Amino acid sequence: MPKHIFRLICLLLGVLVLALIAPRFLTVDSFYKFGHYRANSVPEIAAQEPAYKTARYCLSCHAQRVALWSANSHKSVTCEVCHGAAQGHPQNGKLPIPKDTVKLCTLCHEAMPGRPLTQPQIVLAKHDAGGQPCTTCHNPHSPKIAAGLVKVTGNAAAGKQRAESCADCHGADGTSPNSTWPNLAGQSSAYLAKILAAYKSGEQKDVAMTPLAQTLSDADVQNLAAYYAGLSCKAAPSQSAAGDAAAGKALAENCAGCHGEGGIGANPAWPKLAAQKPGYLVNALKAFRAGLRKDPTMAGVARGLSDADIANLAAYYAQQSCPPATQERKTQ
Ligand code: HEC
Ligand code: HEC
Ligand code: HEC
Ligand code: HEC
Ligand code: HEC
Ligand code: HEC
Repeated sequence: MPKHIFRLICLLLGVLVLALIAPRFLTVDSFYKFGHYRANSVPEIAAQEPAYKTARYCLSCHAQRVALWSANSHKSVTCEVCHGAAQGHPQNGKLPIPKDTVKLCTLCHEAMPGRPLTQPQIVLAKHDAGGQPCTTCHNPHSPKIAAGLVKVTGNAAAGKQRAESCADCHGADGTSPNSTWPNLAGQSSAYLAKILAAYKSGEQKDVAMTPLAQTLSDADVQNLAAYYAGLSCKAAPSQSAAGDAAAGKALAENCAGCHGEGGIGANPAWPKLAAQKPGYLVNALKAFRAGLRKDPTMAGVARGLSDADIANLAAYYAQQSCPPATQERKTQ
């Protein structure tokens, strides 16, 4: 063999050996073990922080909201389904609050064939004809709107007698003499029964009402509710010095779904607000906002209201016409 051919073969062999050995030094151990990933996949993937953290992560900082959520129907829908992955939160900023709730909520709730019935379904056009956000009426963390209907079977005549002890504050005709004590005349009976029972059980507290309600029997509660609901309201619309009723009217569009256009809603379980005392309305809204009154539906609504909003809403509702005496619904 000529020398130069021999040298060429040696060179080629040398290159071949180098080509076989070099990758061992130039690539990581896991090369080719897990597909074509060239980097050191095992420690690298293990070091990745999971994007989704589960609700347990939120607990330490948003305890109240986690408690509300986990006690209600959306407990199977984890926080990050709606708010997005929590990686980097809160260090790198807030999580987004879903804005287009019609789009978000109908992902699971719009009636479609084959959709699991465990996700209660709605026909959008019938349910939310105005296209307003679902959160106008539903608290996403406690979405169920309980009908909450307490059947009132009381005797108004017996209620009238018992009501003598209430007249000092709520008026002989159910119209109170000052701005912070609520009118009761014409209020819906189911709501009156519910709220009196709540004062009695301590679920709702007030320095004036709690000791009084504790002396009421269950029958008293029913009778008083029947009595006040049957009174026709004579309250003159009140003026509130603090609020701007026109601004309140615009805000009240968010409340109309439940409390009706002028403060008289369709659901007999929910309070009428029309011609209610402005000072009382302000106190009630602030109590919802602060979590002192615990109705989950109103908590969601009141959380976003500023002091000025509250004053304006109170001014608006106080000026509406008085509710007529409650007509009991025959069906329900
Ligand atoms: C270490 C504490 C901490 C943890 C854990 C945490 N958050 Fe937060 N979160 C905050 C803080 C602080 C803010 C900012 C509050 C503010 O500025 O009003 C915030 C804001 C938010 C906001 C926006 C509120 C707004 O008003 O804009 C959302 C939504 C939110 N968090 C959801 C979550 C969810 C869901 C989780 C669990 C996956 C979570 N957070 C875990 C501390 C935390
Ligand atoms: C079904 C979807 C959904 C789920 C599940 C959900 N949220 Fe929300 N969350 C929302 C929406 C929608 C809003 C905005 C509420 C509004 O506009 O009234 C919101 C608002 C918030 C806010 C800001 C409230 C504020 O002050 O405005 C925080 C904080 C928050 N959510 C935390 C959580 C945490 C923590 C969880 C889990 C325990 C959770 N969310 C689960 C939809 C959801
Ligand atoms: C990822 C799917 C999902 C999304 C998104 C979602 N929900 Fe739900 N929702 C459910 C499931 C599942 C249930 C039923 C849970 C159960 O009863 O076990 C439910 C229950 C409900 C209920 C009925 C509660 C009851 O107990 O009758 C209402 C009302 C509701 N959701 C409203 C909303 C609203 C409003 C939004 C948007 C803010 C929303 N949901 C977003 C899955 C979802
Ligand atoms: C004007 C107020 C209002 C708006 C806006 C609203 N809802 Fe409702 N929703 C209600 C009321 C009231 C109920 C309870 C009805 C009942 O018990 O028959 C309810 C019930 C539901 C239920 C439970 C149905 C069942 O069969 O148990 C779901 C799911 C629901 N709503 C989803 C939504 C979604 C999604 C949106 C937004 C697209 C939305 N709602 C907007 C008032 C509203
Ligand atoms: C010392 C004055 C006083 C007396 C007496 C009194 N109340 Fe009250 N009542 C109040 C005040 C103040 C409130 C508002 C409490 C609040 O802001 O939470 C109230 C609230 C109420 C409410 C809730 C109204 C609403 O719209 O939520 C009802 C119902 C009620 N009282 C019924 C009665 C009955 C029935 C009696 C007689 C057994 C009575 N009250 C006696 C002062 C009184
Ligand atoms: C999804 C239905 C719903 C919406 C929307 C709603 N509310 Fe309510 N509201 C209720 C229910 C239910 C109660 C009764 C709460 C209770 O039993 O403590 C209530 C109670 C109240 C009370 C207390 C009344 C009293 O006599 O004590 C006031 C004030 C009030 N709402 C104002 C508002 C205002 C203002 C808005 C709009 C910004 C609004 N609500 C939106 C359902 C709703």
